[in-house]
Amino acid sequence: MIIGVPKEIKNNENRVALTPGGAKELIKRGHQVYVQSTAGIGSGFSDDEYKAVGVNLLPTIEETYAIAEMIMKVKEPIEAEYPLIKENQLLFTYFHFASYEPLTMAMIEQKSICLAYETVEKVDRSLPLLIPMSEVAGRMATQEGAKFLEKPMGGRGILLGGVPGVKPAKVIVIGGGIVGTQATKIAAGMGADVTIMDIDLYRLRQLDDIMPANVKTMVSSEHNIREEIKDADMVVGAVLIPGAKAPHLITKDMLSTMRKGAVLVDVAVDQGGCFETTKPTTHAEPVFEVDGVMHYCVANMPGAVPYTSTLALTNATLPYAIQLADKGWEKACRDNEELKKGLNIISGDVVYKAVADAFGLEYKDIEETLLANA
Ligand SMILES: NC(=O)c1ccc[n+]([C@@H]2O[C@H](COP(=O)([O-])OP(=O)(O)OC[C@H]3O[C@@H](n4cnc5c(N)ncnc54)[C@H](O)[C@@H]3O)[C@@H](O)[C@H]2O)c1
Repeated sequence: MIIGVPKEIKNNENRVALTPGGAKELIKRGHQVYVQSTAGIGSGFSDDEYKAVGVNLLPTIEETYAIAEMIMKVKEPIEAEYPLIKENQLLFTYFHFASYEPLTMAMIEQKSICLAYETVEKVDRSLPLLIPMSEVAGRMATQEGAKFLEKPMGGRGILLGGVPGVKPAKVIVIGGGIVGTQATKIAAGMGADVTIMDIDLYRLRQLDDIMPANVKTMVSSEHNIREEIKDADMVVGAVLIPGAKAPHLITKDMLSTMRKGAVLVDVAVDQGGCFETTKPTTHAEPVFEVDGVMHYCVANMPGAVPYTSTLALTNATLPYAIQLADKGWEKACRDNEELKKGLNIISGDVVYKAVADAFGLEYKDIEETLLANA
C-alpha cells in the first residue's frame, strides 16, 4: 500500500503520525511510505532519519495527499486540507467528528474512508488509541501543578515532596481512571501526600492494592471533596463520564475555602472541565487565577511534549496501521472488531451512530456497508 504522512498544520501541533522506526516496519512489509519533508521535525525526527529507513520525502502537502492510498495523521484535517482528500482515500487519524459539524460534512463530501483513532475500541470497551494521550496528560498534570506551586510562577511556594522535617504538599486527584492514576503515581513518586477519589468503589479497591503508602483512596462525593480541598495544595481534575460533559465537582464558592496559591489542574477541560471556574487555556498562557487559586486548564496537554507523545501514540497506532496496509481497510476491519469500531464514514455514508445522531444524518449499518464493499 502507498502510505502518506503529511506535516501537521493545525496550530501548535508538533506531533507526527509515524516515526522513522514505524516507517521502517511498514517498508519491511513491502509498503511504500511517503512523508512530507520536515513532518517529523517538531517531534525531533529529521528528514535524514526517515530517508535512512527508505522513506520517500515529498516537498509539499499536496503531493503527499495526491500519492497516498492511506493517509496517517495525528489531528483531524483542517479546512485547507479538505480539497486535498481523494474519493475512497483512507484517513487514519483523530477526528472527534461529533464535536465539529463542518469537518463531518466535508469528509462526507470528499467520499473518503474515515477511521477515527478515538473510536477504535477493545472488547473491554477501552479505547487503545486514546489511552496513550491520557497517560501523557496524567503524568504531566502533576509536573505542571508542581511547577505552578512555585512562588515565582504564582503558587504558594511549596515543594511537592517537602524535605526531612517539613511536611510534603497535599495533592487531591479526582477521578481514578487513566489520567488520575498516572497523576497519582507521579505525585506519590515525588513524595507528596496524595488522596485519589472516584465514585467507583471497585476501582478504588484496585488502586488501594497497587499504590504506595503515601496514597489514600476516598469515595468522591460533594461532602468529601469540600472537606479535602480546604488544606490541599494541588487538585487534579481527571473525571470522565463517557459521552457527557464533565460535572462541576468544585464550584466557585468552594474556592474561597481553599489555600491562597493552591493549584487546580483541570485535565478534563476538553469535556467542559470539572471545576466551575475552568476556562480552556493554551501552552502560551496556561494559567489564570480566581479567588487566589491558580487554574491550569490546557486542553491539549500532550502537545507540549511532542517527542514523548509521538512515540506513545505511534506505539499504539502502528499495529493497526500494519493491518490496514497489509490487508486493505475492508478486510482489516472485517477481521478485527476493534478496527471496525473505528470506522466513522465510508465513501459518504456515516456508519458511526453517535456521529449520525449528533447532526441528524442518516446512519448506515456498518455490516451492510462492509458487505457492499466486499
Ligand atoms: N487536557 C488534555 O490534554 C487531556 C488529555 C487526555 C485526556 N483528557 C481528559 O481527561 C479526562 C479523564 O480521562 P481518562 O482517560 O482518565 O478517563 P477514564 O475513563 O479512564 O477515567 C475517568 C474516571 O472518572 C471517574 N469519575 C466519573 N465521575 C466521577 C466523579 N463524580 N468523581 C470522581 N470520579 C469520577 C470514573 O469512574 C473513571 O474512573 C477526560 O475528560 C479526557 O478527555 C484531557
